[in-house]
Amino acid sequence: MSWRPASWQSRKALQQPTYADQAALEGAVGQLSKLPPLVVSWEIEALRERLAAAQRGEQFLLQAGDCAESLAECESDRIAKQLKVILQLSLVLLHGLKKPVIRVGRMAGQYAKPRSADTETRDGVTLACYRGDIVNRPEFTPEAREPDPQLLLRGYERAGLTLNFVRALIDGGFADLHHPEYWDLGFLHHSPLRVAYERIVRDIGDSLDFFHALSGSQVHEARRVDFYASHEGLHLMYEQAQTRFIPRSQRWYNLSTHMPWIGLRTAQLDGAHVEYFRGISNPIGVKVGAAMDDAWLQELVTTLNPQNQPGRLTLIHRFGARDIEKSLPRLINAVRATGHSVLWVCDPMHGNTESTKSGVKTRRLENIQQELELAFQIHAAHGSALGGVHLEMTGEDVTECTGGARGLSDADLARDYRTQVDPRLNYEQALELGMMIAERSKKVRLP
Ligand code: PEP
Ligand code: CO
Repeated sequence: MSWRPASWQSRKALQQPTYADQAALEGAVGQLSKLPPLVVSWEIEALRERLAAAQRGEQFLLQAGDCAESLAECESDRIAKQLKVILQLSLVLLHGLKKPVIRVGRMAGQYAKPRSADTETRDGVTLACYRGDIVNRPEFTPEAREPDPQLLLRGYERAGLTLNFVRALIDGGFADLHHPEYWDLGFLHHSPLRVAYERIVRDIGDSLDFFHALSGSQVHEARRVDFYASHEGLHLMYEQAQTRFIPRSQRWYNLSTHMPWIGLRTAQLDGAHVEYFRGISNPIGVKVGAAMDDAWLQELVTTLNPQNQPGRLTLIHRFGARDIEKSLPRLINAVRATGHSVLWVCDPMHGNTESTKSGVKTRRLENIQQELELAFQIHAAHGSALGGVHLEMTGEDVTECTGGARGLSDADLARDYRTQVDPRLNYEQALELGMMIAERSKKVRLP
């Protein structure tokens, strides 16, 4: 079966928009395929090697960001805050786990969303569903919901602007491990977690000083913080247009992001997404849920990583606190039976979504913490290891998930609920989750 960037087009592609004007779509995709790539293959390979190290238990993946980015919120303050909270969280994890943390943002291209229904009906009026800012707009009007091919270009541009800003901040020393005070989010001063976080920052500063005294010149390397981008590779025309052949390595790469992933709703073995993903050389993720049977998962593993290349395949499981004990052991054993290795990551968000009595979509921090805790325990009990965590969170003080040190309740959700799609942890809830991981790993290390 030969593979081409467009070979997915002969398969069934779920969750794709229907464009009224094919010529306009082809025009936009044609432009997109000529524009420069957003990332380069050697960065992608560097990430794959780090993920291979995580697979061996030597590093830990933190993949985090918005459920859906929006074109309008491509703003410096928001991006800087998102980066800061990811950096802070990575510091907490580094301190607790005592291993390098791989920082991967759900950023710079997380614009296409899978939906449970193709249409939405309000007061007897039915329109196409909102599929993310790269496709259409969320307002409930026929104009806003019409898929617009130009949005593919707007999404690519915003992804480029986001990445450019993130790279500049990181290269400019913003992410210098010696100066975590630059990452201060202001509202941390009023947080019940402040003391614990400041102790971690002090400890890391002390160990860097110690490292400096010990190894002199090498300290420069310890400062470097890498940051990678990822998004759900859902909109296949967009992904195809940014897929390039690299003559040096004789391989195809998706150069719109470092690590695209296949969502839960589009992981069918005979589907277009699996066909597209099998041909690109990026490290890739696949979301895995309770409905996946053993044979399905096994075939995904062998189809997407036939050479069993280390770092190539990350399985991001998302069961919900209630189902993880039933489903995860089975899937660990199923993958083991293939003889292939994967990186196991827990997404404790998507299986724990619920609605309040008044119909607001939310998640409880206690369920998120519980699923994550169980994930660590179940992997350990089955001779496997949890090598990362996948979170939806924001650097802003939103009220979308309940619980946490401030005890947010259903009634508090109305205060600052902004997400268009899934509820995110706010900066404080995210740090609290990070501290839980750090604390548990200290306990686990005790004899
Ligand atoms: C997501 O990550 O936002 C998402 C839709 O997840 P899943 O595919 O696991 O439902
Ligand atoms: Co989501």
